[in-house]
Amino acid sequence: MYSINFTKTGGPEVLKYEKLSISEPKENEVLIKHSAIGLNFIDTYHRSGLYPVSLPSGIGLEGAGIIEKVGPDVKNFKEGDKVAYAAAPLGSYSTHRIYPTKSLVKVPDGIDLEIVACLMTKGLTTYYLLHQTYTVKKGQTVLFHAAAGGVGQIFCQWAKSLGCKVIGTVGSDEKIKLAKKFGCDEVINYNKESFKDKVLELTNNEGLPVVYDGVGKNTLEDSLGCLKMRGTMVSFGNASGKLDPVDVGKLIAPKGLYLTRPSIAHYTSTREELDEASNKLFEMVKSGAVKVEIFKKYALKDAKIAHQDLEGRKILGPAIIIP
Ligand SMILES: NC(=O)c1ccc[n+]([C@@H]2O[C@H](COP(=O)([O-])OP(=O)(O)OC[C@H]3O[C@@H](n4cnc5c(N)ncnc54)[C@H](OP(=O)(O)O)[C@@H]3O)[C@@H](O)[C@H]2O)c1
Repeated sequence: MYSINFTKTGGPEVLKYEKLSISEPKENEVLIKHSAIGLNFIDTYHRSGLYPVSLPSGIGLEGAGIIEKVGPDVKNFKEGDKVAYAAAPLGSYSTHRIYPTKSLVKVPDGIDLEIVACLMTKGLTTYYLLHQTYTVKKGQTVLFHAAAGGVGQIFCQWAKSLGCKVIGTVGSDEKIKLAKKFGCDEVINYNKESFKDKVLELTNNEGLPVVYDGVGKNTLEDSLGCLKMRGTMVSFGNASGKLDPVDVGKLIAPKGLYLTRPSIAHYTSTREELDEASNKLFEMVKSGAVKVEIFKKYALKDAKIAHQDLEGRKILGPAIIIP
């Protein structure tokens, strides 16, 4: 088997393509041959050291493929099953891997494994953001940052299908058209104008019930400024860098805001939660409410280039790695 590993944290150059021997699945584990691997911004946090990992380490949290072998006592999965996952342990950037069944789901017929590899992380995230962290209602307006990105394209379609009005931000004019294509009603280039001023203008100074912010350092404070009384700030990522501490007295108290920092793991910690969220996600894709256009497919040995593109803001939609 081949996999991408790193022995020290740093830039994309620390990622090494290596040949390793395949091991045997133990209890509650299976051996998966990957068909496609999800590329996610969180992978860059692990590689850079923003999110600590123990080294040496594999990389990647998302994969889709076929089970080649099951470990002793595995009952719910069998050889030949189409499966996918979006959870630790790291190591999805690989041709094959051993994976625990507790975080694995079966992929229904009719959904391509390359599409699934675009969806598990981005779609499960969208599900909890819109239905659980804050339950949006038809007619509400929401703000989503980096709307033309991987999660952005899935989120905006899903929010639109629920009857929300979606305001998206993007970092360049070329991304405006793309964000509109995937469901944004209004798109703000936050490198050209103040998104806070624009949101307040669009809402007659009322502000929004909820803001979804995966950009982090550069946007958090103004995102809080976009909220109305008792609004909910969902800080779910940090593409622009580690968040500064929040001054609760200055930023939260005046409007009695709610601030949460969720991750997929908080919403899929039981088999029931994982199955419910995955089934909902697969339904959204089968019904056509959420469509996936794969932006780019990288070869496994080119993981370094994929990370350069992610951090260089060159990824315009869900991208995958083909082992
Ligand atoms: N908490 C969770 O459960 C969870 C799960 C999945 C993803 N996430 C988070 O969701 C966000 C989106 O993830 P993704 O994988 O779909 O990535 P992505 O949106 O395809 O890429 C990140 C985007 O962030 C924007 N950005 C703003 N400032 C940036 C900077 N200084 N450097 C790089 N990019 C910057 C860029 O869009 P513009 O050029 O348009 O600004 C870039 O394309 C990430 O923060 C990720 O960590 C969180």
